[in-house]
Amino acid sequence: MCGIVGYIGKRNALPIVIEALKRLEYRGYDSSGCALIHGQELQVYKRQGKIVELERSLPEPNKCSGTVAIAHTRWATHGEPNETNAHPQVDCSRGLAIVHNGIIENYKLLKQQLIELGHTFVSDTDTEVVAHLIEQYRKTEPSLEDAVREALLRVDGTYGLVVLAQDEPDKLVAVRKGSPLIIGIGDSEHFLASDVSAIVIHTKHVIYLQDGEICSIRRENFEITNMRRESVQPQVSVVDWDISAIEKGDFKHFMLKEIFEQPQTVDNAFRGRIDERNGTARLGGLNLPPQELRKIRRIHLVACGTSYHAALIGKYMIEDMARIPVHAEYASEYRYRNPIIDEDTLVFVISQSGETADTLAALREAQAKGASVLGITNVVGSTIARESNGGSYIHAGSEIGVASTKAFTSQVTILFLLAVLLGRQRNFSTTLGLDYIHELQQIPLKIESILGQNGRLREIAASIKDSRHALYLGRGINYPVGLEGALKLKEISYIHAEGYPAAEMKHGPIALIDEQMPVVAIATKDPLYEKVQTNLEEVRSRKARLITIATKGDRDVERISEHVIYIPDTLQNLQPLLTVIPLQLLAYHVADLKGLDVDQPRNLAKSVTVE
Ligand code: M6R
Repeated sequence: MCGIVGYIGKRNALPIVIEALKRLEYRGYDSSGCALIHGQELQVYKRQGKIVELERSLPEPNKCSGTVAIAHTRWATHGEPNETNAHPQVDCSRGLAIVHNGIIENYKLLKQQLIELGHTFVSDTDTEVVAHLIEQYRKTEPSLEDAVREALLRVDGTYGLVVLAQDEPDKLVAVRKGSPLIIGIGDSEHFLASDVSAIVIHTKHVIYLQDGEICSIRRENFEITNMRRESVQPQVSVVDWDISAIEKGDFKHFMLKEIFEQPQTVDNAFRGRIDERNGTARLGGLNLPPQELRKIRRIHLVACGTSYHAALIGKYMIEDMARIPVHAEYASEYRYRNPIIDEDTLVFVISQSGETADTLAALREAQAKGASVLGITNVVGSTIARESNGGSYIHAGSEIGVASTKAFTSQVTILFLLAVLLGRQRNFSTTLGLDYIHELQQIPLKIESILGQNGRLREIAASIKDSRHALYLGRGINYPVGLEGALKLKEISYIHAEGYPAAEMKHGPIALIDEQMPVVAIATKDPLYEKVQTNLEEVRSRKARLITIATKGDRDVERISEHVIYIPDTLQNLQPLLTVIPLQLLAYHVADLKGLDVDQPRNLAKSVTVE
């Protein structure tokens, strides 16, 4: 995905859009650019690399200032990440500039047709096609917004895009289809952004543009219409959090801050959702009355990346506590596989951003098959939240670090509440329901105590930071935690890591083990403890460097481990909320000690809005 911003008002626009853009850098950071009207002239500046490179390249303010500007930070899809392919893209006359987030699927055909009409292309991007298409329609349409509308009627794909034209300098035209775009309302000024976090410092009054809507924005007013040229009544929302929620504060990185927020974010996920009287959970957003929920015979949990690992944990929890068969699958597979969904199947899609293209496509596929699809999302008003038939927000607050941490534990918390709700309906008593709930309420304090071992985890990280490979082992519900630990390490430290069910080691991966290989093992006290011990003995006898996550008081593991991290005891189904914390910290410190860009690892973006 990419980040886009726009400003029109009375202030100098460039510093405003550059600052706003920096808050969107998590969305993509391989190149960036901006366009503004300086005097009568449309100026465009672009740079490969991070936004600071762009900022450094800008001329003196007296050579580039104006009160209207757009800007973009890119995660490349079409065309390599270089200056030419960076946005804004311009038309032949260089009088019109656009910034775009999304994919133009039929761009090759359109490009061919435009070339035949005499247009000259300079980049490899799909976006440039839209600039030329608008240029073409401006020859016949009376206004910029009419030309934009007509051009987009010929475009297949997704877009959040903003257009600035030299000859209509007192407006910005913004359009949305499938990629988020938000209008911020100020005092004689307006803002545009892909995400509220970019503009919340300026205004808390925002409008979430809906798919198919075009907004023409001026300093004093704006007008929203749809593709049929009908006027749309805007719905203004008020942002209920402030800028401190999205600043690093005293933390070196957002990822570290977000790891440390987890006592609070887990609490936020379950607060208000507990029914003490009946020993159950309340998830009102599911929009399903108890009698409908009782009819469910099968559950599908569909997601990508870290959210998929949460789904796997949900499978263990729901099957154990509610005895309902659960199928967890990568959204990218599910969407093309013709999954079997009958009327007793309930489908959940899980996504922090609510914008992941594969997860969204899975949602639509399940809905097309007649399923009711519920969303477990973090970002309010995101596409998945809007398109699902109900669901639960995880209330984790903005997650800015590209490596997902607090969203994961909040997703797992919601899935645990779901397991309690479904389990209470069909499988267990109020007393057992209360036991589950009371233990969940202890989790924030227990996470806090694990965070207290941050210093020791940094020391352990120092001892493995130069490794080239690592293995993560777990069994039962801690197996997906192993997968998550391995994903965290590889995505931010670029060390190859794999998660494995501990007992599967002997079927192949054990061949990889030598005295260089760190093996991070989850060996907590639960019914599989003895079995995991045996697996770890096998690993240790091949001289692996064993780092063990164990239950407080278990001294036995020290004999075979190079390092032991102790976590407080809890119910087996709640263990992932604790066992994942040291794995997050370990990955963080390894990456930080290697001097890597923890919050913006190479080649990644916070959410992947393309296939
Ligand atoms: O926003 P989503 O939860 O849908 O994102 C899914 C994955 O792209 C995401 O979890 C990704 O794997 C993270 N970088 C993991 O840390």
